[in-house]
Amino acid sequence: MSPTIVIFGASGDLTSRKLIPALYQLFRKGRFKNPPRIVGFSRSKFSHDQWRDSLAETTAKFVGERFEQKIWDEFRELIYYHAGDIGKSEDFDSLREFLQQLEGDEQCERLYYLSTAPRFYKPAIEHLGKAGLADECDNCRRVVIEKPFGTDLASAQELNHFVHEFFDEHQVYRIDHYLGKETVQNLLVLRFANTIFEPIWNRNYIDHVQITVAEEVVVGSRAGYYDSAGVMRDMIQNHLLQLLMITAMEAPVRYEADAIRNEKVKVLHAIRPFDDESLKRDTFRGQYRGYTASEGVEPTSRTATFAALKLAIDNWRWQGVPFYLRSGKGMSCRTTQIVIQFKTPPHRLFDDSPSDLGEADRLVVQVQPAEGIQLHFQTKVPDAGMKMRQTDLNFNYQQEFRGSMPEAYERLLLDALEGDASLFARADEVEAAWRICDPVLNAWQSSDRPTLFMYDPGFWGPNECREWMLQQGREWFDTCPVLG
Ligand code: BG6
Repeated sequence: MSPTIVIFGASGDLTSRKLIPALYQLFRKGRFKNPPRIVGFSRSKFSHDQWRDSLAETTAKFVGERFEQKIWDEFRELIYYHAGDIGKSEDFDSLREFLQQLEGDEQCERLYYLSTAPRFYKPAIEHLGKAGLADECDNCRRVVIEKPFGTDLASAQELNHFVHEFFDEHQVYRIDHYLGKETVQNLLVLRFANTIFEPIWNRNYIDHVQITVAEEVVVGSRAGYYDSAGVMRDMIQNHLLQLLMITAMEAPVRYEADAIRNEKVKVLHAIRPFDDESLKRDTFRGQYRGYTASEGVEPTSRTATFAALKLAIDNWRWQGVPFYLRSGKGMSCRTTQIVIQFKTPPHRLFDDSPSDLGEADRLVVQVQPAEGIQLHFQTKVPDAGMKMRQTDLNFNYQQEFRGSMPEAYERLLLDALEGDASLFARADEVEAAWRICDPVLNAWQSSDRPTLFMYDPGFWGPNECREWMLQQGREWFDTCPVLG
């Protein structure tokens, strides 16, 4: 029986740029057990064919040479359009009738995808519920909610509460596209499908962990949204904390949504809450020069486009091992990487043995755009006494597996269709993440807020952040990945 996907916000950017190309790719690769019907819902008046034609153009643009006309011609037959206004309950009654006509007597699974601005989440949920579209059968209706999920703890709690009036938690799929990235899932495999890493993945061997999501781009046309979000809400509360959870969690008892999410959320609960002192000492914010000249941004805006946090995890594995999270726009290059910095050897046997951390062993998980893992370690330089140099073992996805990597949305859409919530955030997880970020956001707005350091686009954020790290006897691993 074919499922149905209803996309709210069908005429939006996410739909044409990510969702439809991902669904097309899944279709092309034969990944659907039963190819789904895809119904677009938004206010624009399109006929089915008009919407299909406009998607053909955008999909061809975004999937490039993988666009095959013959396959698209088959795929487009799965696509429908139903015009409606999320704010109007009667439009959900007509949607229900349309879906009934389309599906006939089949009791099919349905996925409602809220690809809308966050202010439409509540009306969409409410109208789905009131039109009887949320709970017609046991677990055959699911809803996918995009980020941002709330703007602070209180609003996230309120939104969870509201959603739960109409959908049970097991029907709710809060998406964070970072979890759909192959290299992020591979971190689970690296840690839990191998024996050699686990024994050293702890405070006995690791000095600290750095998680960096750097973007070369500046905010551009999204400045209006970005100015109210800033880097904490846009990146750290969701993507970086997800990476931290996967890096720091214990092995789940089974590969199953709740077992995984239980372990992830425990990490967030173990993060030491910030107090007045640590907020000043362990949080760092910056803004790139020129940001306030962007359209949609107040000239006096103090929104952070760069942040670095030092987090402590109070548990047996990680006591005393700081986790540094750092993200910014207008950085030197685009790179997402997780650096596991091991300690220096306990005894210097050779004159040349590493004595500072920069020379000590390091595992670098390259999430994107380079995709792979490098292990940095000391090697004897030939014919030079006991001189040594840092060298690396390099695993590169492209070289090893050829062919292009799937887009994160492919995996996530397929999982949501199949009812696997392992790679989606649970209500308590999102709230725990806000519980960590709220005090930082509040401190950054308070009257004695910490300095907002300025930086020039094209570097690694404010220079003072480098010094902040050096004062702690550590150094950022500022290396742009080599692609290819
Ligand atoms: C989004 C943020 O969630 O993630 C954007 O809103 C950011 O500001 C983007 O650019 C980064 O995603 P990716 O997959 O390109 O790293």
